[in-house]
Amino acid sequence: MQFQAIDHPLVQHKLTLLRDARTGPKEFRELLFEITLLLGYAATQDLPLDEKSVETPVGRARGSVLRGAQPVIVPVLRAGLGMTEALLRLLPAAAVGHIGLARDPRTHLPVEYYRKLPADTAQRHAIIVDPMLATGGSAAAAISLVKQAGARGVTLLCLVAAPEGVRVVQEQHPDVPIVGAALDDRLDDHAYIVPGLGDAGDRLYGTV
Ligand code: PRP
Ligand code: URA
Repeated sequence: MQFQAIDHPLVQHKLTLLRDARTGPKEFRELLFEITLLLGYAATQDLPLDEKSVETPVGRARGSVLRGAQPVIVPVLRAGLGMTEALLRLLPAAAVGHIGLARDPRTHLPVEYYRKLPADTAQRHAIIVDPMLATGGSAAAAISLVKQAGARGVTLLCLVAAPEGVRVVQEQHPDVPIVGAALDDRLDDHAYIVPGLGDAGDRLYGTV
């Protein structure tokens, strides 16, 4: 499986607080922001660099800068919005595209209700963000949409994944690396991740 679980003590500590059913929306948003900052480090590890030297106050230093346009961050609405500001902190010149997908409660299949990607998506790497990778239907659909828009490459950044969802994404998009904080046990009868953290969108925005 091309799923990279970030087993860092800070990530695991904050994820445990996030999972806790007693954690309210304010703390949930803060923790999701902080975890995304930490995961963002791993999700950007293969971005290409160009050499660049600069004059320091003392001499000339050889350095590197990101090559070309910075990535496009693509949150899957709603819950992906909770990860977007943290990635923008790391990539201040990134563009942001939005994809609105809602799971049909009966079929668990994603229904698209919104899409706005930058006109220059073909010049950028896309980092799709969505905390939950459950059946994988939403992530696979979002990846197809950014590929259709011509993205140079795609990375999927999630928080908690089910083995079923990882399998679906890898079957449909074997070229897309997945970075997350935890690979959980399974899905329940309602296609919720077990143990997971519940409904991420509802917990973020207090719509439970
Ligand atoms: C959740 C979650 C993912 C999707 C994952 O969103 O944020 O987008 O479900 O499930 P899947 O892997 O089975 O497709 P939801 O559709 O509940 O919408 P919301 O974020 O607006 O609550
Ligand atoms: N969407 C969520 O928000 N949580 C799950 O466990 C599954 C889908």
